[in-house]
Amino acid sequence: MWFTVQRMEEESRIRIEPRDPATQPQGVVQGYAQTTQRWPAQPLHRRSLGVSELSGPRELQRRLARARGELAGDGEKRAIGQLIHLRTTVVDEDGAPVAGAMVEIWHCNAAGKYIHPNDRHDAPADPNFYGAARLIADERGRIELRTIKPGAYPVPDTDGWWRPPHIHFSVWGRVWLSRLVTQMFFPGEPLNETDHILNAVRDPQARSACIARFLPGGGSALVFEHQLVVRGRRASPALP
Ligand SMILES: [Fe+2]
Repeated sequence: MWFTVQRMEEESRIRIEPRDPATQPQGVVQGYAQTTQRWPAQPLHRRSLGVSELSGPRELQRRLARARGELAGDGEKRAIGQLIHLRTTVVDEDGAPVAGAMVEIWHCNAAGKYIHPNDRHDAPADPNFYGAARLIADERGRIELRTIKPGAYPVPDTDGWWRPPHIHFSVWGRVWLSRLVTQMFFPGEPLNETDHILNAVRDPQARSACIARFLPGGGSALVFEHQLVVRGRRASPALP
C-alpha cells in the first residue's frame, strides 16, 4: 500500500497552531494569473486533524532514490554560474529537526532556463546543468547542496514580470502535516521587491523568512543558510 496510517503518539498530541493568514499567500494574487485556479472558490472551514493529516507516505526512501546532492559539477563538466553552497535545515513548529525528511530541490540555470518542455524562455540551456536534487535530512534536519546560483527569468504572458533568482523545495516528512512546497530567495535581489509570488505573503517578517542568509567567508563558493519550517504558525509560506 502506498500510504498507511502512522498515528504516532507524539503527532496526535500536538496542538498545531493555526497558520497566520498574513504569513501565507491567500486567495487570488493580482498579476499572478495561476492563483485563480489554485484557490478554492468557497470559504475555508476549520476542522480537527484526522487520518488525512496524521498519515503519510511509506518507504519514500526506497521508492524515490536519493539523487544529485551536487549540481555544479567540476572541471570541464562544471555548470556555468556562481558556485554556491546551500545549507538548509528542516524543522517543525517547535524548531525541532525533521530528521529523515525527503527534500526535493530544483532550480533553473544561470541564464534562467529550466530543463523542461514548458520552458519557452529564449535563454541557453547549459549541457552541464540539470537542476534537480533529492536529499534526505540528517538527524539534525540538515541537507547540503552544492550548485550554481540560478538566474532570473521572465514569466510568459505577463506584462514584464521577472522572477528573481529562487530555488524550489518540496519537503516530505513522515506525515502529511509535514508536507511543504515552497521557494527560497536570495538576499539583496532587486527583483524580490516586485515578485508576485514572494509578495503574495503580506507579512514582511514571513517574507524575509523566505530569503536565505548569506554567510561570509565561504572561500571558493558563496554560502547561504536557510531554514524550512514545515508546519505551525511560523510555517514557511506555501509557494508552489
Ligand atoms: Fe521557478
